[in-house]
Order: sequence, then C-alpha cells, then structure tokens
Amino acid sequence: MQAKNMTTGQATLPAIHTKKEQDTEALGRELAQALKPGDVLALHGELGAGKTCFVRGLAQGLNVQGPVSSPTFTLLNEYPGPLPLYHFDLYRLKSAAELEDLGYEEYFGSQGICVLEWAEKAALLLPEERWDIRFGIVSDRVRQVEIKPPAGRSWP
Ligand SMILES: Nc1ncnc2c1ncn2[C@@H]1O[C@H](COP(=O)(O)OP(=O)(O)O)[C@@H](O)[C@H]1O
Ligand SMILES: [Mg+2]
Repeated sequence: MQAKNMTTGQATLPAIHTKKEQDTEALGRELAQALKPGDVLALHGELGAGKTCFVRGLAQGLNVQGPVSSPTFTLLNEYPGPLPLYHFDLYRLKSAAELEDLGYEEYFGSQGICVLEWAEKAALLLPEERWDIRFGIVSDRVRQVEIKPPAGRSWP
C-alpha cells in the first residue's frame, strides 16, 4: 500500500533505488520532462544523500546552463534557460526573514522551476502545490528516492 499524505491525499510513489551518482542524475533528467512552468520541488535528506546530484540532472533535463554545484555561501543560484532553474540551498539558512529578503515569493510565483535543498528549513513558506522528494542513504553507493508529485499530477 502507498503512503498517503494527510492533507492532499496524494500518494508517494514507490521508492526508487539508485546505485551510482549517474543514476541519481538520470532520475533528475527524467523528472525534468514532467515539470511545468512554476513547479516547486522540495528536496529533503541528509548531507551526501544526493540532492545536488539530482539537481544536476534536472538542469541537464531542462537544458539550462550549468555547472550546478551546492551554492555554499549563497542561498540561491539561478540558471537561465527555456525554463529558468532557481536552485536554493537552505543548509545555512538562519531565519525565514533571510528568504523574505531574497524575495523568494517572486521566484515561487515565477514561470521558472524552483528546487530547494534542505526544504524543511522553509517548511512554513513552501507552497502546498509542490513536489516533495526525499533522499535517503542506503549504503555507500545506494540512495533511496521517494517522489510525491503535487496534487492532481502524476509521474512518470
Ligand atoms: N547512488 C548515488 N546517487 C547520488 N550520489 C551518490 C550515489 N552513490 C554515491 N554518491 C555520492 O554521494 C554524494 C552525494 O552528494 P550530493 O549530491 O552533493 O549530496 P547532497 O546535496 O544531498 O548533500 C556524492 O559524493 C556522490 O558521489
Ligand atoms: Mg547539496
């Protein structure tokens, strides 16, 4: 049986296991094909779980200009393209006010794609209509990825 989210009733898809970095990247490339202008993706999972690797795949799938890395000292990297990609990394976020200063609402409301690493740090600010993607470390090379599409959307 699939887990149901209490508020939206949307199901989390069966967990996917990737066996190497390139598989996680490929997953990002594939998911990019299902994205629509304005989509927000909330990524969850500990350090080293593969979030940035997945975003690299997304960027490839969206044909945006890279290179994608974890924005260590900035909260946001913007990659221009047909659908621009806004890559947030909230690891060092100190308060919600920092995101407000950044003008996050304009990005969330834009036609581009917003992807947030450490999205739980902005839990209260996330739009209800979003992709929730959870990464887990299974072993040295194996990662588990659970994808919950926004209400009314499906994948693949
Ligand atoms: N199956 C896998 N998928 C993604 N990364 C993997 C995998 N197996 C090993 N790794 C390694 O795990 C690390 C993931 O790093 P990164 O994507 O930056 O994680 P995060 O952004 O979640 O902190 C990289 O060093 C990568 O080489
Ligand atoms: Mg990262």
